[in-house]
Amino acid sequence: MNQTSSEHLYPQFERMLSRQQREERLGQRSHVFWLYGLSGSGKSTLAIALEKALFAQGKFAQVLDGDNIRTGLNSNLGFSDEDRLENIRRIAHVAKLYADSGVITIASFITPREELRELARGIVGAEDFSDIYVKASFETCAERDPKGLYAKVKAGQVKQFTGKDSGFEEPTTPDLLIDTEAESVEQSLQRLMDYACMRIAS
Ligand code: ADX
Repeated sequence: MNQTSSEHLYPQFERMLSRQQREERLGQRSHVFWLYGLSGSGKSTLAIALEKALFAQGKFAQVLDGDNIRTGLNSNLGFSDEDRLENIRRIAHVAKLYADSGVITIASFITPREELRELARGIVGAEDFSDIYVKASFETCAERDPKGLYAKVKAGQVKQFTGKDSGFEEPTTPDLLIDTEAESVEQSLQRLMDYACMRIAS
């Protein structure tokens, strides 16, 4: 029988180097910036641009992205409500591991429900977590269709698609809202960078 309880486990966190020691070595404060929104809203573009902008300023940052993680760590998960929750749960733990090692972590996942955003915040820890809504309407995302996915959805080839037959809950009070319909990539990146620098200022 599989042993799934934590009854016989003995985690050793206190004996390891502290997060503070690692942050001092890297010369930065870590944080998890959690970008979410519809497929095609601009999350990946902004996440990668933010990672590069921080790197150019001497910071050490890492993007975690839906399509990448779903081809590796989470390749056994689909798009049911249950699987999306497990997807976010695992990624939040990975993000926490990164943050604890001093790395500024930029997560880019649809994260379609408030419950999932709260799950991620709870796992990472509220003081180390910012939720950033990358907003664009379903129609705009379908027009952009960077991966050709919306065309496949229209042709009935993709099931449980977010915004179509699987829901997306708009947040009420995100830490930051980036409206990619109203702003250029440069403007969005600038606002994102200003916000990130404010959060990681020590
Ligand atoms: S989440 O809902 O569990 O947060 P995640 O961000 O990991 O989703 O993965 C979304 C990516 O998977 C999309 O950007 C898209 O490329 C791909 N994808 C494939 N099928 C679907 C689907 N049914 N709904 C949404 N995205 C899908």
